Amino acid sequence: MADELERPGENGESQDPAAHLPAPSIWPFGFALGVALVLVALIISSWVIVAIGAILALVFGFLWIRAATREVRATPPPEPAALTADVEEEEGEEDDGEPRLSRSLFLEGATLGIGAAIGGIVTLPSVGFMVLPAFLDQEYEQIDLGPLESYPRDQWVVAKFRGTQAQPDGVARRTAYIRYNGQQDGTPSFTILSNRCVHLGCPVQPQGLTDEEAQMIETEAGGVELFKMAPSGFGCPCHGGAYDIEGNRTAGPPVRALDRYKYSIHNGRLRLDEPYSVGKVKGTGSDAQIAAYDLVDPGQHVDGPEQFFYPYVP
Ligand code: FES
Repeated sequence: MADELERPGENGESQDPAAHLPAPSIWPFGFALGVALVLVALIISSWVIVAIGAILALVFGFLWIRAATREVRATPPPEPAALTADVEEEEGEEDDGEPRLSRSLFLEGATLGIGAAIGGIVTLPSVGFMVLPAFLDQEYEQIDLGPLESYPRDQWVVAKFRGTQAQPDGVARRTAYIRYNGQQDGTPSFTILSNRCVHLGCPVQPQGLTDEEAQMIETEAGGVELFKMAPSGFGCPCHGGAYDIEGNRTAGPPVRALDRYKYSIHNGRLRLDEPYSVGKVKGTGSDAQIAAYDLVDPGQHVDGPEQFFYPYVP
């Protein structure tokens, strides 16, 4: 019975197996490049690159699908009359007049589909963990740092306190350097510096004498320890970063001035609000002109041409 079937080639078709393989194409590489761009851009939070990657992935994906299905689209449905009774009997197929999917095309589609499913299962969770935090608003705690009388005018103090979030003690401990600058336009003026080095985040230390004995203040969030100090500046023990008394970088690898905290006064008590980043501080104390920016990570420039090398962070 098989001998009675028409063989490929007998009617002019090629018998070369390579003839049934899809032609080499650059579309999959372009598609992969687009997807890779999207993933990288999501990690660095650059929406421009996300858009470019998405467009590349869509265009190359479309071209890839178009190339992969060219054979199906170009092949007319087989004529029911061309199917011999023997073939129908052997394959158990019914002649319903519908175009039939070739086995190679089915296998190709199944392989791609299973590959995509496995890739998604493996990739999505890790990408989610990397990308999602960037879209979640970070809550900043407001922390009571005690009555204003605890902060003598022009006196620097190290304030050690605990954050209000439920965290282990070692994680929740915070430090800020605080100086009361006196009244400005009828309201108390404070300079409150973060102790986070803006190179890589090590804790900076005051350069100068610090009292060993702490003044303890009880607050709702727990105890606040205040140590008087007389710093000439601040230094970072990790890579030698140095800052002057207003937090401006003076030496080493840090890229901007020390971050500061906003603050507010409630019922005669100093309250620490959200932190912000600083490009440069001109002047001192209550007369300081502060180039303030939204808080960014250590190592990021906030001004000058270098700022354009850093992506927007939501
Ligand atoms: S982390 Fe401070 S200088 Fe590197």
